[in-house]
Amino acid sequence: MTEEISIDPKLSKEESYKSLIPQLDALLAGETDLIANLANLSAALMAAFNFLWVGFYFHKHGELILGPFQGPVACNRLHLGKGVCGTAVLIKKTIIVPDVNLFDGHIACSSLAKSEIVIPIFSNGEVRAVLDVDSEQLDYFDDVDKSYLSDIVNLIESKI
Ligand code: SME
Repeated sequence: MTEEISIDPKLSKEESYKSLIPQLDALLAGETDLIANLANLSAALMAAFNFLWVGFYFHKHGELILGPFQGPVACNRLHLGKGVCGTAVLIKKTIIVPDVNLFDGHIACSSLAKSEIVIPIFSNGEVRAVLDVDSEQLDYFDDVDKSYLSDIVNLIESKI
């Protein structure tokens, strides 16, 4: 497997994702354990973009339970239909929140989070987990993040 993630800091956001994805492919190659892969994906995304928080919640027993992540300690359990993650699971769609203070019911695990994106991870048509990413910048996430983070999630959907 690859030993470290290397992204040229001069690259644009889109170029950074393009440079990251083959490195993630190499990182995941040959490893079938889901927790190991999600832990390394979190670390790689953090290394590439220095997000405030990046990680996974598993959809289990009617709630969302914290999985591998990088960043400040976070809420262990989230209710379906509540907050950004719980809403993304319910509607089965990616949600971009430009300003978390304007999202009704946003769950603030860290007061530093200003914007957020949540991408559902599917298996057999059901949402099995979500990728949640928080930024300290207002309005950080856009369609570039949505597109490439969805591609990244696709890398592990076959392994979930
Ligand atoms: N903000 C999320 C909760 C999880 S933390 O951001 C890590 C939400 O509203 O669902």
